[in-house]
Amino acid sequence: MAARRVKLVVMAALLAAAAAPLMTLRAAPALDYEFFKARVQPVFLQKRDGHTRCYVCHAESNNAFRLERLSPGASTWSEEQSRKNFGMASILVNPGDPETSRLLQQPLAPEAGGNVFHSGGRQFASKDDPNWKILADWVNGEKL
Ligand code: HEC
Repeated sequence: MAARRVKLVVMAALLAAAAAPLMTLRAAPALDYEFFKARVQPVFLQKRDGHTRCYVCHAESNNAFRLERLSPGASTWSEEQSRKNFGMASILVNPGDPETSRLLQQPLAPEAGGNVFHSGGRQFASKDDPNWKILADWVNGEKL
């Protein structure tokens, strides 16, 4: 009886030890606001060859990817607007998992793993696109 109990305790300890690294891997990273503001937001304003800028279609759009409208003459968002954009974009991603994040899938070419249809086109031909990587880094919790 006692020996059996010891065995159980040992097994439980082994299981816990084996599970620990998995749990660390699975813990979702926190999305960094400063990284979003400095690196991610410019992607939405940037002109890509053969494409319209994200901002043109998504400023106050009626779908879930809804950017704040820039103040007249402003080339970027204010602090308050950036916070709103951050909140909006945060719910379109799964922290730690760019592959399942809508914000990254929708503008990615289908043959590269993106969603089948996006009115805004295949803004990123592959996951090697430097701008797609910026979005992925943010989703993976990268900080400035
Ligand atoms: C030419 C206009 C246009 C451009 C440019 C554009 N989009 Fe879109 N996008 C749309 C429209 C319209 C929808 C909603 C219907 C659809 O999915 O096609 C949409 C949907 C989305 C969605 C899904 C929103 C939801 O409601 O689930 C995301 C995310 C998105 N776009 C991201 C982007 C990103 C990021 C860029 C720039 C890299 C971009 N879009 C550029 C028109 C555009």
